Amino acid sequence: MSRHPRHPNLHVVDHPLIRHKLSYLRARTTPTKEFKELVDEIAMLMAFEATRDLETEEVTVRTPLEDTAAQRIRGKKLVVVPILRAGLGMVEGVLSLIPGARVGHVGIYRDEDSLQPVEYYFKIPPRAEGRDFLLLDPMLATGGSASAAVEGLKRRGAKSIRFMCLVAAPEGVRRMEQDHPDIPVLAAALDRKLDESGYILPGLGDAGDRLFGTR
Ligand code: PRP
Ligand code: URA
Repeated sequence: MSRHPRHPNLHVVDHPLIRHKLSYLRARTTPTKEFKELVDEIAMLMAFEATRDLETEEVTVRTPLEDTAAQRIRGKKLVVVPILRAGLGMVEGVLSLIPGARVGHVGIYRDEDSLQPVEYYFKIPPRAEGRDFLLLDPMLATGGSASAAVEGLKRRGAKSIRFMCLVAAPEGVRRMEQDHPDIPVLAAALDRKLDESGYILPGLGDAGDRLFGTR
């Protein structure tokens, strides 16, 4: 994982497996079932990088031969937070690596005309200030939804937040950099730009509709 030369807040998680799966995710012919599986698989692969700097603590483990010092993730502080709806598609993939994580939910949709985020639900575990949050949404387009979700987490006391998406537009990355320069953004790909309706080009279309078969 490396920082992007034009975007100091962006880490593109570049791996042959991710590139391969992303190519099928983008294809318009990929059916819903396969689309869902790919979102999960890419999220799982990215979670490996997104959790690279989680704190560990020393424990003593008895092997069949002797006691030894070993490292375990400290406590169960990680909270995975999908932005509804499409972020839900990434949850199982992340939990397959970190089954002990808690799951919060943020309901935000983007108004089709104004492209402004509209919040309708927010539920996270208490004592947010002591936890690490991994915010999930496959798409970072204008950045309005991600920025509003981060704002909501910060308002509730969260101090450690990272945002993980599959496809990012430069417009959204810049918006996050401007609104929340302290928040790392992880993406599987940085795409070219937004079209006049706010869709990412080349992108993969409407992630929620493709995940849930609503179009
Ligand atoms: C999509 C996507 C993001 C948002 C990105 O959700 O899952 O949440 O758009 O766009 P932005 O960066 O311009 O805010 P959508 O609004 O379609 O809601 P849905 O998942 O409920 O369909
Ligand atoms: N939301 C999506 O699901 N896709 C886009 O391209 C932009 C926003």
